[in-house]
Amino acid sequence: MLDVNRVRADFPILSREVNGKPLVYLDNGASAQKPRVVIDAVTRAYTEEYANVHRGLHTLSNIATEKYEAVRGIIARFLGVADERQIILNSGATEGINMVAYSWAMPHLEAGDEIVLSVMEHHANIVPWHFLRERRGVVLKWVDTEPDGSLDAGKVIDAIGPRTRLVAITQLSNVLGTRVDVRTICHAARALGVPVLVDGSRGAVHSAQNLDDMGCDFYAITGHKLYGPSGSGAIFVRNERLAEMRPFMGGGDMIREVHKDSVTYADPPMKFEAGTPAIVQTIGLGVALEYLMGLGMDNIAAHEDRLCDYAMGRLSGAQLAQPAGHGARQGRDLLVHARWRGACARHLDHPRQEGRGGARGPSLRRPADGSSRAHRHLPRLAGALQHRGRNRHSGGGAGARARALRLSGAGGIRRPIGAGMRRDCGQGASTRQHPANSCCGRPQFLATT
Ligand SMILES: Cc1ncc(COP(=O)(O)O)c(C=O)c1O
Repeated sequence: MLDVNRVRADFPILSREVNGKPLVYLDNGASAQKPRVVIDAVTRAYTEEYANVHRGLHTLSNIATEKYEAVRGIIARFLGVADERQIILNSGATEGINMVAYSWAMPHLEAGDEIVLSVMEHHANIVPWHFLRERRGVVLKWVDTEPDGSLDAGKVIDAIGPRTRLVAITQLSNVLGTRVDVRTICHAARALGVPVLVDGSRGAVHSAQNLDDMGCDFYAITGHKLYGPSGSGAIFVRNERLAEMRPFMGGGDMIREVHKDSVTYADPPMKFEAGTPAIVQTIGLGVALEYLMGLGMDNIAAHEDRLCDYAMGRLSGAQLAQPAGHGARQGRDLLVHARWRGACARHLDHPRQEGRGGARGPSLRRPADGSSRAHRHLPRLAGALQHRGRNRHSGGGAGARARALRLSGAGGIRRPIGAGMRRDCGQGASTRQHPANSCCGRPQFLATT
């Protein structure tokens, strides 16, 4: 059981005010705040222990190298990986997935080969595969979600055909918050001889992992979502795949010998870590993971379940009215309002609706993401939403009321008028597009704290 007040006190930023109100941070899905232990470790690394790693023969370099290299073992422990040489340190999930695309997929895949993806992937797990489509003629095979937003593992497995060379799938979608049964997919794909890349950017934040049991070939994490510094991260690559990969970037650290007409490479994982790494950020990530393991990932997961039930209880009566043509605009409006009330939430556009008839507007659903600190924040979010509803209503006039995004205590979620939403989004009201939702500027509260 988590002591929530103690955990809150670990995060210095939560004691500040925004717009004269206590900070409510609901944007951990985008990037998490940092506990004091991480901030202190970063400060110490720069003030007392800084030097480059792997190459100095002096005290500071030895300390920095020791601390930096120890993180590999911490990540392996955090992810349930027995052999830490399968952990490649990098700047985050985007680099990790791109590395797989360039180091493993580019030399292996040919025109007509297939990569199976779900429609609710992050762009970091889509665009590198589009590069292969553009440059190699690789075919992207999309698996759709169910109407309730879940992903049927069986459908992913059924999508694997004789030309499938890779399945690239999220463990926890940033788009819908859907958890995917990646273990079932990995085991089935393995039996068919098809490697699986799991995007663990969000999955690893919310539950304990055992990659050796999961059976994936690649598993990407990103440090800044794990309460560590931005610019830190790692990817797990199974030994068999490491043996098949050619280096991604060339430079220092990844070589054994360099001559005028030849070069030999270091053994993995160093073979895939060119140049001076994010030394201090990585040391900070190690401290963040120790912090999470100290809290207990199972405790965090249990607390998030309680928060989720609490939030759904508080928000379940929400009634959202969405007139034609105002979808994306009002969603953003609402977030601006929440921000004014001291809450940091996030607007998200997503292409999951591509090819679907009905667009959807603002909706309240189980939070996509979570961590350990929301129970004080959620009432404030609910308060901001309710305040917004009251203000809009009291603004007067049938027109104003018709445009209002309402919240009331009864009636459930009122669905938006799809056609208008579509038109609105099509005109460029949304900020970003995604293959699953290309028409929809749908605001989502990632209730992530
Ligand atoms: C599911 C998922 N995958 C990948 C990423 C990319 O992570 P990064 O930008 O840290 O590389 C994100 C970031 O939001 C994400 O949510």
